[in-house]
Amino acid sequence: MKLIELARAAQQVAYAPYSKYLVGCAIETESGEVYTGCNIENASYGATLCAERVAIFKAVSDGHRQFRRIVVCTDSQVPGTPCGLCRQVLGEFCGPELEIILCGANDTETRFTFAEIFPHPFNQSSLV
Ligand code: THU
Repeated sequence: MKLIELARAAQQVAYAPYSKYLVGCAIETESGEVYTGCNIENASYGATLCAERVAIFKAVSDGHRQFRRIVVCTDSQVPGTPCGLCRQVLGEFCGPELEIILCGANDTETRFTFAEIFPHPFNQSSLV
């Protein structure tokens, strides 16, 4: 199944009773495996997890450390971009060339590289 279809399938199981904003994500590892995630909200709103971080953490907890592509699907007119926290987490495990594919309503699709959406990340190299 294609990455976009997998992200759309993940969106179907999003748990978002508060915002009603359903997000699905699929991320491809350097070695070609795919992990999916959906947003998981909580009555204590701050405990909510975004779809991107769910997918990333699933992959990292299986031993993956590098990603090459990520797809994020919503139903919004303008495809939603990853939030700041997700960009920071993503930046830990990808290079500037990571491909980001954002899908919205009516088959709208925009593409960016990681460097375009997060040009000056704070990362491991900042700490030396
Ligand atoms: N959300 C994501 O899943 N990914 C993002 O990058 C932005 C926000 C979720 C969190 C919350 O469940 C809902 O969208 C509204 O903010």
